Order: sequence, then structure tokens, then C-alpha cells
Amino acid sequence: MILLDGKQTSAAIKVEIASAVTEIKKQGKRAPHLAAVLVGTNGASMTYVGAKVKACELVGFSSTLIDLPVETTEHELLVQIHALNENPEIDGFIVQLPLPKHIDEQKVLMAVHPDKDVDGFHPMNVGRMALDLPTFLSATPYGIMELLERYKVPTSGKHVVVIGRSHIVGRPMSILMSQKRPSGDATVTIAHSRTTNLEKLTLEADIIVAALGIPEFLTAEMVKPGAVIIDVGITRVVDESKKKGYRITGDVDFESISKIASYITPVPGGVGPMTIAMLLKNTLLACERHASK
Ligand code: GUN
Repeated sequence: MILLDGKQTSAAIKVEIASAVTEIKKQGKRAPHLAAVLVGTNGASMTYVGAKVKACELVGFSSTLIDLPVETTEHELLVQIHALNENPEIDGFIVQLPLPKHIDEQKVLMAVHPDKDVDGFHPMNVGRMALDLPTFLSATPYGIMELLERYKVPTSGKHVVVIGRSHIVGRPMSILMSQKRPSGDATVTIAHSRTTNLEKLTLEADIIVAALGIPEFLTAEMVKPGAVIIDVGITRVVDESKKKGYRITGDVDFESISKIASYITPVPGGVGPMTIAMLLKNTLLACERHASK
């Protein structure tokens, strides 16, 4: 079994990005600049945004955190987004999800200018991805594709079962892996809560992408020996033995499946760390595109 080590791979990507930043600065240009908008005090969101800002510092990017109170109205948030769209000093920005219930998430995501949408959530960028056109791929699917590519995991002609049809992970993964591209050319089945006889499908799969958000859902009885396992789950499960009072649990029963898989991502340390590295990569790309305009 080979561990698909997201911690190590993301660290290597950050070193590559840092050296690209050094090169940019050597040419007398300003560093890439990422902004993050956080509305409210959701614990997980605050942790993620904090990690994104820290990662910017690590690679030499500028970063701006726009921290808004939970009572912020949709209109006020849209005003902030328009200001970021117009600000030439900002190459890309993200609006951390989930947003408070009184704000229409889709309306907000559509207000982000597609050229600054480093999360790749705008319908224009999702459409470009589906049509094989250059775009910002959203961080989690991009991170998984990058892991598969860097570890040279064979995907061409393989049967992939993606469990979960979310807009952020399952849907884009199913599209990307079926495309003619590195880590693509696979035959893809997308399974979801209404799928019947899931076990029959997963037992036939060469690669399983588990992205449904149910801790340890995938068990060894559901997996063909030698399969490749990608675990996208990051559920906080109460654990009094931990300092924080919880532990992060994946969608895969790592203990049993790691004994039969050919490749597997751990949780934590697999897909998770890759997402921030890919967000930085998108921001670097946005900066390069910005500079060449
Ligand atoms: N919430 C959970 N994942 C993400 C992400 O990748 N981007 C944003 N903006 N919010 C998230």
C-alpha cells in the first residue's frame, strides 16, 4: 500500500509557488495578493481561513482578511465583493462558505468576478471546467487530481466510483476524471443517496472517491483488493481524549481498507492539506494572468 501523502505533496507545491514568487519579486513586480471574506464566527470556517492566510505568508503572498459580523446583510456583503472585484491590488479572493442563512450563497458566488474567482465556484468557471477550457479548478478536486498525477496513479480506462454529488467535490471529480487529461480518461460512475446496491458498484471500482460526509462509511467489505481510495471526508467527531474535544474523521475506515488498497489518502494529511496548496496555485495563476493583461 502506498500512502498518498497530501502533507508532503502540498509542502512541495508550496516550495514551488514560493520560488515563483521570488522570481516575480526579482522582476520588480508585486507579490500575488489573495483576499478572504469571512462572515460570522463558524469555528471550522475561522480555522480554514486562518490556515489560508498563514499559507499566503509562507509562500510570500500578500493577504487580506475581511472579517464581517454575522449580522452583515446580503447587500453589505455584495458591496464588499464589488469593491474586491474593482481593486487592482487584489488578484483573487474567496468568500468562505457556509454563509449565514439570511444570505443567498448562489447570489454571492455569482457576484465574484470570474477572473478573480480562485475558488472556481462561479458558474462561468464551472462551465469552462466542464468544457475542458482553461479555468480555475476548485481546490479540492484540483488537489485530488494533482495527488493522482504526482503519484502517477494509473487512471486511464479505470472504473472510478465517486460517492457524493456535491457541487464542490463529487460533481467536478466525476467530470474531471472522465476528461481527456492527466489523471483522467477514466470510466466514471457517480453514486449518491438514492443509488441502489452501492456495494455492488464499489466492489467493481478500481478507484473510489468517497465524498459523502459520513464518518467511516466505506468499509473493507465494499472494496476490491488493490483499489485506489481517495477519502474526502473531514467530519469533526466528538472525542474527549483530544485537547480540542474532537477528532477529524474521514469517510473511509482507514484501519481495515489500508490493508487491501493499492493507494490510499489518510485523514488528516491527505486531501485536506492539498486544498490550500491548490488555492495558492490558483492565486498565482490569477496574478500571472492579471500581469499579462
Ligand atoms: N468551505 C468549505 N470548503 C470551502 C472552500 O473550498 N472554499 C470556500 N470559499 N469555502 C469553503
